[in-house]
Formats: sequence, C-alpha cells, structure tokens
Amino acid sequence: MTDSVALLLRRGALGPRGGQRANPPGEPVDIAIADGKIQAIAPQLDLTAETELDLAGKWVSPPFVESHIHLDSALTAGQPRWNQSGTLFEGIDIWRERKQSLTLEDVKTRALAALKLQASQGTLFVRSHADVSEPSLIPLKALLEVREAVKDWITLQVVAFPQDGIYSAPGHAERLEEALKLGADVVGGIPHYELTREDGVRSVHRIFDLAEQYDRLIDIHCDEIDDDQSRFLEVVVAEALRRQMGERVTASHTTALGSYNNAYAFKLMGFMGRSPINIVANPLINLTLQGRTDTYPKRRGLTRVKELWQQGINVSLGNDCIQDPWYSLGSGNLLEVASMAVHGCQMTGRDELRACYQMITENGARTLHLGHDYGVEVGKPANLIVLDAADAIAAIQYRATVCAVIARGKLLVSTTPPQITWQQSL
Ligand code: FE2
Repeated sequence: MTDSVALLLRRGALGPRGGQRANPPGEPVDIAIADGKIQAIAPQLDLTAETELDLAGKWVSPPFVESHIHLDSALTAGQPRWNQSGTLFEGIDIWRERKQSLTLEDVKTRALAALKLQASQGTLFVRSHADVSEPSLIPLKALLEVREAVKDWITLQVVAFPQDGIYSAPGHAERLEEALKLGADVVGGIPHYELTREDGVRSVHRIFDLAEQYDRLIDIHCDEIDDDQSRFLEVVVAEALRRQMGERVTASHTTALGSYNNAYAFKLMGFMGRSPINIVANPLINLTLQGRTDTYPKRRGLTRVKELWQQGINVSLGNDCIQDPWYSLGSGNLLEVASMAVHGCQMTGRDELRACYQMITENGARTLHLGHDYGVEVGKPANLIVLDAADAIAAIQYRATVCAVIARGKLLVSTTPPQITWQQSL
C-alpha cells in the first residue's frame, strides 16, 4: 500500500457484528480503501487520500443482503387492480393479468428503480426471483440485463422462478430449463402450488436435477401456505441430504412450518440440522398474506424463525415485495424487515435482536453463497455501510439512517440523517 489511498474513512466504529475486530470495542478506527479493497484498518492511519470522510464514531457494518425479492413485479401495485382480499392467491391472479403487458423496458426500469431504492438504504447484494411462466421469458431476460448493467455497484442474483408451477401447464418445465441456459443463477420452484402433491414432489426432484446438471444454486418457494399438511420442506431437506447439497439450497417462506404440530416440526428441524440448508423468512409479507382464512385465534403465518435459529440453522430475511400485487407497501428497507421479525417472531432478547440484524447481513451472505468476500476485513472487497447508530440493536430500534454506502471501494450514496430542531425550550 502506498502512502496515499483512494478513500479514507476516519473514526469509524466496528462493533461485534461489524466484521473483524481490529480495535477494542468503542475505540474508533480508520479504514483505508484502494483498488476496490480494504487495505488497512487501524486507529489513526498515517495516510493521505483522494477522498476522506470523517465518520465521527458512527457504526460501520457489512452491507445489507436482500435474500428474497421479486424485482419483476416491484412497483406495480394497483396495476391493473388492487388486491382487495389481501391473499397470496389473489396476488398471483392479479400478477397473471399484469404480466401480459410486460415489456423489457418496463421490467428493467422498475427493477433498476427498486435496486437504487435498496442500495440507497444499504443493500448491496440482492437475490431476485424472475417469473419464467410466460413464453416470452421477459422478466428473466430483463433481470439478466439489469444484473449486467448494475454489476459495478450492486450484486444481483437471478432465480428462475416458475410462478405458476412446473407441471401445471405444457411448456413450463421446458421454460425453466431454458432460463438456466440463458444464465439464471439459481433454480426456483413452487411445489405447494403444483396441482397435486405428487406433482409437487416431482417438481422438487426436477429442481435438484437441474441444479446439478447446470451447476446452479436452488431457492424454492416452499410451503408458503397455512396448510399444516403442506410438507414439501421435508422433500427439499431429504434431497439436500441425499445429494449433499445443503449449503447451496434455500427454502423460502416455509410458513406452513409455523402450523405443523410440534412433534413433526422438531423432527423435521432435526433433519435440517444434518444438511445445512438455508431458510428465508419474509416477515412483512408472511404476516400480511398468511392467516387470511383464520378467524381467531389468528396465526402469525411466519415460519419458526426463533427455533430454527436456536437449532443453528441459517435463517435470513427478505422484503419479498416492494409495492406489488401482494403488498402495496414496502420501501425496500431491510431494517424494517428485521424489526418486523423481532416483533412477529418474538425475538426481543438481546442476543435475539442481534441475531435479527445478522439475518439481514452475514446470514444473507451465506444464503446467497457469497463466499469469503463479504465482511469488513483487510483484503476483502470494500463494500460497507455507515449507520447513524451505535450498534445493531440501535440500528433496528431507530431504523437508523444509512449515512454512507461504499460499494466496490467507491462512495455510492451519502444521506444526511434528519435534523430535529426544537422550537421551544422544554
Ligand atoms: Fe417470493
């Protein structure tokens, strides 16, 4: 390293979840960045820089990781109509109408807007599903173009997602494979929405076969329903175990796990411990879409996030939707998602609060299979965020402003926290 670097961050705080502990807790450090990498972390580096930022003791964290989103449907809420029942299945019906008018430009424009919204709030790694149910494959083709267009500032993984099922109509299975040939990073599926239980099981086997054949990751919408008899997670776990693919496999939603009887649920979680698959919960969506046919008591509709975490299973969190047929709200803020997990999963203990922050950072990195490049450590790519908070718990508590986003060694976004001025002396 020379005596001059591209970017020097002065007086940042690296906490227990802020990557390598190069300094005693509470003692600020300087972070030197050059050639896109973190070159040094130490108190008071004797260096000059093209750009120098004084962090004034603010907390430095690895970036947020979006484990599950649908960028192809983002920002379409109300088109062509609003979801009045609030159910998952009315959402699928509305999306089926809306997707008839999709164009490449339409999807690309909205996806880019959603990614910028997320990056501005600290997210630099995103896994998005792309609906591959229509013959045109427009969502997939658009997101693959976006993946290339944004690669210098955000990492986008694209899942080939057969929204309407693999075996529900002729051509769907072929299109899923075509999507992999076109370059999708991940094989998706939706076994609980196949026409029969047998089709659902067959779809899981097919997904694993394709992942092996094309050397891709797996991320299945799995048991996103309140039905306690929806039991495709056990099929996913069994396949991951038999094929020794656990770390490359993700089961998203798994909301039915919240409705299983305890004897079955704990047996299944024990099996999951043998093959370390990843689980993604989407608390904003699960809390609002599930339980719609219940009267009272009304289920929360979330998977067993706390119990899975206690069993050592990798759980991460996603937004799932930003203003689309399933959820008309949403701003892409992963701190809001973590906060919703805290509430919906009753994870209010100190370690539990920190775990929820980990679910939008390190755990998400494991789900996306990012490898050793993720984290605020010397030698790693310089991707990091600066929060207006003292630590992970305060970040969730105050939905802290992400004051600076450093992507690939460059300052991508800076945001000034709201300034509150009292007009009376109290
Ligand atoms: Fe989803």
